[in-house]
Amino acid sequence: MRKKIVAGNWKMNKNLQEGITLAQEVEKMASGVSGEVELIIAPPFIHLTEVKKLLGRVKLGAQNCASEASGAFTGEVSAAMLASAGVQYVIIGHSERRSYYGETNSIINKKVRLALENNLHPIFCCGEVLSEREKGAHFDVVRKQVEEGLFTLSSEEFSKVIIAYEPVWAIGTGVNATPAQAQEMHQYIRSLIAGKYGETAANNTSILYGGSCKPSNAGELFANPDVDGGLIGGASLKADDFIGIAKAF
Ligand code: PGA
Repeated sequence: MRKKIVAGNWKMNKNLQEGITLAQEVEKMASGVSGEVELIIAPPFIHLTEVKKLLGRVKLGAQNCASEASGAFTGEVSAAMLASAGVQYVIIGHSERRSYYGETNSIINKKVRLALENNLHPIFCCGEVLSEREKGAHFDVVRKQVEEGLFTLSSEEFSKVIIAYEPVWAIGTGVNATPAQAQEMHQYIRSLIAGKYGETAANNTSILYGGSCKPSNAGELFANPDVDGGLIGGASLKADDFIGIAKAF
């Protein structure tokens, strides 16, 4: 059976002291969340080792990793470094990385491979921009991202991957996808997985929704059969809201 997951993407927010406080609050409140729900927080890189010491119930994720294994890549952080810091998950291919830092499907594929080689679970992000949805290209866009980003993996490798569908027009805008729009795309992604890796693999893959998810809309989004949780940006910066979302299951 696939896992229910609520993951917080803090993005470039919170200094170290603020991050420690938030992580402590989330860990404390996590005891009120159903044991069936995996909770993950993904703070900025420099917070990871300190935050790791505070977590038990809540798992640790990073927001990115390098597309190369090691060497002269100033400013980069490798998947191996993340693993050595006790990180278990890594967000890869977020739309902000794709659009502001030029990450292509092939770069993202290299990151996914390096994450897996280092026993990290990739949280692979995909999603269309508004103009693509308006012209009806959203399924094709997501299919290409998923095929080029993930479908070079073996079945064994793929079984470690979590997918996050994040329509770019819903990220940080306050306008979430409707439950029907989310379900339709999640079902489509699951059908792509079934076509490539088989029905069992498709049924075992957690597909999260991301984009203006908050306590007030999480329940109706998570009620869909193919929506297995959320990747939460803005609302993950307040422990109450993040835990409120996790309690929506
Ligand atoms: P948001 O961001 O919840 O602030 O819309 C989601 C994300 O980018 O992962």
